[in-house]
Order: sequence, then C-alpha cells, then structure tokens
Amino acid sequence: MVSTVTTDEGDDRVPPTIEWHGGRVRMIDQRRLPGELVMLEAATVEELCDAIRDLAIRGAPALGVAGAMGMALAAETGLDLDAAAAAICATRPTAVNLAWGVARVRQAADPVAEAEAIAREDVARNRRLGAHGAGLLPQDGRVLTHCNAGGLACAGYGTALGVIRAAHEQGRAPTVWVDETRPVLQGSRLTAWELDRLGIPATLVADGMAAGLMGAGEVDCVVVGADRIAANGDVANKVGTYGLAVLAAYHHLPFYVAAPTSTVDLACPSGAAIPIEQRPAEEVTTLAGHRIAPEGMAVDNRAFDVTPAALVTAVVTEEGVARPPYAESLAGLVGRASGRRPAAGP
Ligand code: MRU
Repeated sequence: MVSTVTTDEGDDRVPPTIEWHGGRVRMIDQRRLPGELVMLEAATVEELCDAIRDLAIRGAPALGVAGAMGMALAAETGLDLDAAAAAICATRPTAVNLAWGVARVRQAADPVAEAEAIAREDVARNRRLGAHGAGLLPQDGRVLTHCNAGGLACAGYGTALGVIRAAHEQGRAPTVWVDETRPVLQGSRLTAWELDRLGIPATLVADGMAAGLMGAGEVDCVVVGADRIAANGDVANKVGTYGLAVLAAYHHLPFYVAAPTSTVDLACPSGAAIPIEQRPAEEVTTLAGHRIAPEGMAVDNRAFDVTPAALVTAVVTEEGVARPPYAESLAGLVGRASGRRPAAGP
C-alpha cells in the first residue's frame, strides 16, 4: 500500500474520505488522525481488505463505498468476483453498508462508474439527511454524540455530524459533547478533529461522564449514527450507545439515530439477528502502543451494541424522519429510496 502525506498545512479543506484515483482506492488513513493527514492507496482487493480490517477506513457509509470500490478493483484486476465479494464482506460483519456496496457494484455493468456514483450519492444523501434532522435540534442545543459519524465515516458530510452540521449552517448554534469512545477513540481522534475544522463548538468528555452531564441538565439531546438498523428499529452502533440511550430515557431526553436508508436492513427482523464484530484484545489492553492491562488478561472487545427500538425517539434518514412504529415507518422510507434510484444496468 502506498502512503502519501498531504500538503495540509494552513489548508482547511479536507480531501475526500475515500475516492477512486487512477485505478486505486485512495483514502484518508484514519489511524493517523489527528496527528497527521495521510492518504493511503490500495491497489488490490487484499490491500483494501487490510485497510478495512485495520480501521484505516471505517464508519458504515464509508465502508459501503469501500465495498463498492473493492469490487471495482476486483473487476479491474480480473479477480473472481464472488470470491472477492466474500472476502470484502468478511472483513467487518456489523455494518450492513459494506455488503450493500458490494452487492450494488456486483450487479453493475460498469463497476468503476457505479462505485464512483455510490460515493457521490453518499454525500448528497447525507446533506438531505442533515437537512431533515437539523430541525430536531433546539436553538443553542447541547448535543451529545458518540464515536464518529462525520464526513470521515462517510464519503463526506456525515450522518450524526451531518445533522449537527446542518443545524450549525442554519444558525441554530449547536454545541457538542464529544464522547472519547474507548477503546479506539473515534470521538477524541476523529469527531473532535472534524468539529474543530468545521468551527462548531465542542467539548471532549470521557465516556463515563454522560450520566453526570445529563443529571446536571447539561444535555438537550443525543444524536448518534448507526451501523445497522433492523426492520423493527433496533439499532447496532458503537459499543456504549445502548448505555447512552438508557440514560437519555431516564433523563427524558430525545435519543436520535441518523443514518442513510442503506444502513436499514429490512431482511434483519430484530437486533438479535445483527452479527456483532469481536475485535482484537489489543485495542483494549493497550493505549497508543503502551500496555495498560496485565499480560494474559481476558478481554471481551465487542465493537458494537444494540439499542432496542423502544429507546429510539426517531431515525433520521435522507428520505425523512422515521418515528415508531418503526416496522412501518422504516419500510416506507426504504421503499421511497429504492424508487428514487434507477435500476442497475444489464
Ligand atoms: O468501528 P467503526 O469506527 O467503523 O464504527 C463506527 C460507528 O459505530 C459509528 O458510531 C457510526 O455511527 C456508524 S458510521 C456513521
């Protein structure tokens, strides 16, 4: 894999999270943020799978684009497409967008053009999603978010951060509590970096502080993204999300989930059927390369948890805002989205 350091000094523009670039998949190496803005290029499906597994590229919608571009790489390099699809989908099991992106390109006549279209559509979708969600935030709203659901987790703009960003653009003046999000620290490394660049006021807090903040009356709502939403509205998102939803319910605060319809898996009846990724123990036992737990300590590193639909106030998508009962509202929005897209070519 090729790495290149961008000329980022004094330049507030951020390159696309992921793009097709001269026959390779070019992406921001998210492992290096916030210290360095470094681009990574994958020339083979194997290299792309390594980048996905190692979280150089991550976040459900960005994984959808990565899956699509992986299939374009497979087609361009003459690989067996079924084997390539299976290898890509096996890298990370929870975010349904990965398999969604793979399937869309698998059926396309021109894999590269389809993958590029998926990336473009993702940004447009997130802007529409943001516009639908911004009105849910009160003026001067204090929003708590978890993990990273910003432009880095997508082809651009973001989902949960897209809602906050749209509210900011509309002059609603949101401020953000950013959970650090142990163990991989997507909050402190990525969300804090994005909000700083966007000029949106934000304060970083340890994950354990959410209850105290809500109890002190310093949070108006929670907005998070999603990796997979089941047909009944159960939501898989970064581990720790379920706890936030319970806390929000206890404190009578709205708990919003922002995700494109490609994250809704109508084939999955409930959260119990969502596969939860188990990640390497080292993510928990080490911090910035230093060991912080005794050698040989048993570790359970489930990367996601499932928030029951009953705790979700609304799901914000590019097609509108779904409210309970989710079995009906989500199916309606997914149907509207598939009606919008032209069928894949022969
Ligand atoms: O393990 P990650 O970093 O890929 O997980 C991403 C998340 O869980 C995000 O919270 C998210 O909402 C999905 S991406 C918008």
